[in-house]
Amino acid sequence: MEQVLKNQAAGIVMVTSAGAKEGKTTVAANLGVVMAQAGKKVLLVDANLRAPLLHDFFALENSRGLADLLLKNDVPDVVRSAGINGLWLVTGGSVPPNPSELLGSEAMQIFLKRIRMLCDIVLLDTPPVFAAADAAVLAQLADGVLLVVKSGISTVDQVTMAKHHLTMVGANILGVVLNDVKMGNSKYLYWEQNNKKLSNAAIAQVAVANDAGKG
Ligand SMILES: Nc1ncnc2c1ncn2[C@@H]1O[C@H](COP(=O)(O)OP(=O)(O)OP(=O)(O)O)[C@@H](O)[C@H]1O
Ligand SMILES: [Mg+2]
Repeated sequence: MEQVLKNQAAGIVMVTSAGAKEGKTTVAANLGVVMAQAGKKVLLVDANLRAPLLHDFFALENSRGLADLLLKNDVPDVVRSAGINGLWLVTGGSVPPNPSELLGSEAMQIFLKRIRMLCDIVLLDTPPVFAAADAAVLAQLADGVLLVVKSGISTVDQVTMAKHHLTMVGANILGVVLNDVKMGNSKYLYWEQNNKKLSNAAIAQVAVANDAGKG
């Protein structure tokens, strides 16, 4: 993973998936913690404005966050410590009526430009590709995309379609994260046999242990 990210000149990486509940938030949070522990300055941003949950991982409240900042332009202390050395968090904030529009706004571009100066890597947690336009909008702002795939949720066709959808808007797919992999699980082998369909460029397979959830 480190190797994949090192190849990127700048550091805004979004974590998404084809469908819901594949582990985007879990992967983003765990990746953030691991990278901070490895000495990087990491900023986690909850860009899932429809159902923000990243704050739960760090036991932070979500009374203010990205949506409020994008709407009001001036929100104090929006970047908060996640309680781990080198790790900061911008929570999602109050659920807005127009998430796609906010994420595609000039205010979002200004926000990302500002925060990328503050750290080594920005990790964006996002909604699923097929939920709304949000993921496609964010893919155009990010330097790279990690596509989370949890066995038993999306089919190979759906993941291939999600990847195509993102590539069509110019996304740079860094890799596929296989979440909740059970060793010896036939679905894992299934993915191994079929992932050539997913890989035009380098695909990094990162098996996230199936006890990587919170708690
Ligand atoms: N590797 C894992 N091991 C154990 N539990 C996991 C793992 N990955 C995800 N989970 C659990 O599955 C549920 C969904 O995970 P998560 O919230 O990370 O998915 P998501 O893709 O962000 O969902 P959404 O589409 O709603 O944003 C959570 O309860 C989480 O704790
Ligand atoms: Mg999530």
